Amino acid sequence: MNKSNYYDKIAQIYDQTRWLTEPVAEEIADFILRLVCATPETCFLEPGVGTGLNVLPLIKRGYSVTGIDISEQMLDQFRQKLNGIPSNLILVHADASQLPFPDKSFDVVLTVHMLHTVSDWRAFLDDISRVLKPGGFYLNCQWITPPARREFEGYFRTIFSKYKESQQESKQTPQEIDVEGYFHNKGYASNYLIAKQWTVSNTVKELLDFFKSRAYGLCWQGSDETFHQVMSEFEEFCVQHYGSLDKIISSEAQFEIWAYRDV
Ligand SMILES: C[S@@+](CC[C@H](N)C(=O)[O-])C[C@H]1O[C@@H](n2cnc3c(N)ncnc32)[C@H](O)[C@@H]1O
Repeated sequence: MNKSNYYDKIAQIYDQTRWLTEPVAEEIADFILRLVCATPETCFLEPGVGTGLNVLPLIKRGYSVTGIDISEQMLDQFRQKLNGIPSNLILVHADASQLPFPDKSFDVVLTVHMLHTVSDWRAFLDDISRVLKPGGFYLNCQWITPPARREFEGYFRTIFSKYKESQQESKQTPQEIDVEGYFHNKGYASNYLIAKQWTVSNTVKELLDFFKSRAYGLCWQGSDETFHQVMSEFEEFCVQHYGSLDKIISSEAQFEIWAYRDV
């Protein structure tokens, strides 16, 4: 299993293993609509739309939304949330590295946890600029991993790093994506905003089960055998470290937006 296409495998468990709930997504939609001064005609594009967590509230409110995703399984999960595809939604199964849309098609393009997945981020941002209408917004968003879950993940990574195979894979340097520099050079105005903060709570057992189901990219590094060894050691560690698998760990999640606009 290649890490890059693991979304096909995890589509069914994607929503339950993340922490953006529907009520939170509704509040974030309110924030975005205010930010872009939306009118009933405002139209949105989300490349890497996945299961539709971010745009579903916009669709329900009647805004025109286009979603594009490389994973048919993620799109299927999205479709299952809808009672048929509404007339204000277009879903495209394709690689978003080249956006199959005419110039100046959208008022708002948003990406959420997506930029790192395209092979050439500069070409991708060129394409986003191309499909934006004059004065349109590009919203580079992320809902950061809550600190308690990041710490949990860190323990997993430490155990994984003891295994030779994963050390070899970790030599790949992740590409540096300078969105701020890119849009600064184009003369766009930029703004950083926190759309929403909320508390996320899970038992240690729940988090362990998410890892056992390989819900995250880091769980697809290394062979199945290595992963099972790591999980067995990790579970023992969790019992020792947290005292009980029923322990609840809580921390604050945050939905962040870097907004860019050609002014
Ligand atoms: C981390 S998920 C985010 C999904 C959604 N944006 C969210 O916030 O829940 C990344 C999504 O990008 C999709 N993806 C990855 N590379 C892609 C590409 N080159 N073109 C289109 N979609 C892609 C994946 O299939 C997955 O649905």
